[in-house]
Amino acid sequence: MKIAVIGTGYVGLVTGTCLAETGNNVICVDINKTKVEKMQNGIIPIYEPGLDTLFLRNISQNRLTFTTDLALAVKEAQIIFMALPTPPGEDGTADLSYILGAAKDISKLVSEYKIIVNKSTVPVGTADKVQAVFAANTSVEVDVISNPEFLREGVAVEDFMKPDRVVIGTKSERAIKLMTELYGPYVRQGNPIIFMDERSSELTKYAANSFLATKITFMNEIANLCELVGSDVDAVRRGIGSDERIGKRFLFPGLGYGGSCFPKDVQALSKSAEENSYDFQILKAVMSVNEKQKTVLVDKVLKYYGNDLQGKHFALWGLAFKPETDDIREAPALYIIDSLISKGATVTAFDPEGMGNVKELIGNKITYAIDQYDALKGADALLIATEWSVFRNPDFDQMEESLSNKVIFDGRNLYDLQKMIDLGYYYNSIGRTL
Ligand code: UGA
Repeated sequence: MKIAVIGTGYVGLVTGTCLAETGNNVICVDINKTKVEKMQNGIIPIYEPGLDTLFLRNISQNRLTFTTDLALAVKEAQIIFMALPTPPGEDGTADLSYILGAAKDISKLVSEYKIIVNKSTVPVGTADKVQAVFAANTSVEVDVISNPEFLREGVAVEDFMKPDRVVIGTKSERAIKLMTELYGPYVRQGNPIIFMDERSSELTKYAANSFLATKITFMNEIANLCELVGSDVDAVRRGIGSDERIGKRFLFPGLGYGGSCFPKDVQALSKSAEENSYDFQILKAVMSVNEKQKTVLVDKVLKYYGNDLQGKHFALWGLAFKPETDDIREAPALYIIDSLISKGATVTAFDPEGMGNVKELIGNKITYAIDQYDALKGADALLIATEWSVFRNPDFDQMEESLSNKVIFDGRNLYDLQKMIDLGYYYNSIGRTL
């Protein structure tokens, strides 16, 4: 099939590349000329495990191309995906100007039937708004459908190639037929393509992310309670997670959920409820608990070292909001850095992928280490903010040589409590007591 993908951000690039991988011809459009030129030359603009191989293979076989020419892409494609940003406006509602703007541009270019697929996370009713833009500008028949993405950064290729489910919101038989064909290769193992109306599909995306954010937040509160009553959150997690109704995944406590999706989507759903005169109380609690959870690690440091950290130096392992990504949006590490510095401390950080982005954001407010052990030199304590695999089984002898104090504050529960005591560390993690 001939596909166009408008927007080559994270979602657009993964979608375009993975659609090319099953033999479709995909033309990706972006307004950023430099970015397009780079991609034409095989330079991938994001870090995502496994994506580079598919990206290069499909470019070399001419199935994946890049252009700034929207008209060319619209002319060629039967199906046009819109993967454009929906940043939160000042009041927390999703800003639809990119989507509606692109819809207007596309509507002036169509000369035959197309399916316009909205991949971005958008409030309920957006498909109707986009359809109205087309109706206002062209008499050509188009179906505007909703097809939310459920990709996790770090495993996005796997999530796209073998999705748990594909959700399609449309009532058009023609669109259902074409989308079934398009997604057929991805659901061969029997996972469903779930068809529904546009409004339900749009809400499904917000409901999924908000439910997961709530699940994590619930566990963060359980972890906080564990510390007060002397329980071990790991045990509680295993104890409840094996109940299939609860499920094992997304029960890991930590420093609060971050990233570009959960914070934005919980806020947008809450706002949308408010606009419809519904008081979505759980979401409000989730947002406020999550704000508090960001502070737990620094609170532990202050409890240990006192409120004035003048002259103290800290090592920080992990900057990305989660492993296997260089994304630092809403990353707990940024909060930790700010708090430590505001209390007079200095920080040296190491992250396998996220250091470039942090440097761009805050420059030399902190120092950046060559590797994880280099970060520890002269540190009064190590703080762990991201659960990268390389931090899971470190050389504790080498750590001991570099650290000034054998003190670790672990926001990701990487190490066994007893082992750390045996090694002679003061080790404080989330929701665990011995
Ligand atoms: C999330 C969803 O998982 C995807 O399905 C969705 O498509 C995506 O948002 C999106 O809307 O685009 P992502 O933000 O990449 O994906 O990351 P997750 O793996 O879901 O993690 C989100 C946050 O929750 C991270 O800060 C992570 O550290 C935290 N988390 C996750 C926990 O604190 N505990 C857990 O058990 C799991």
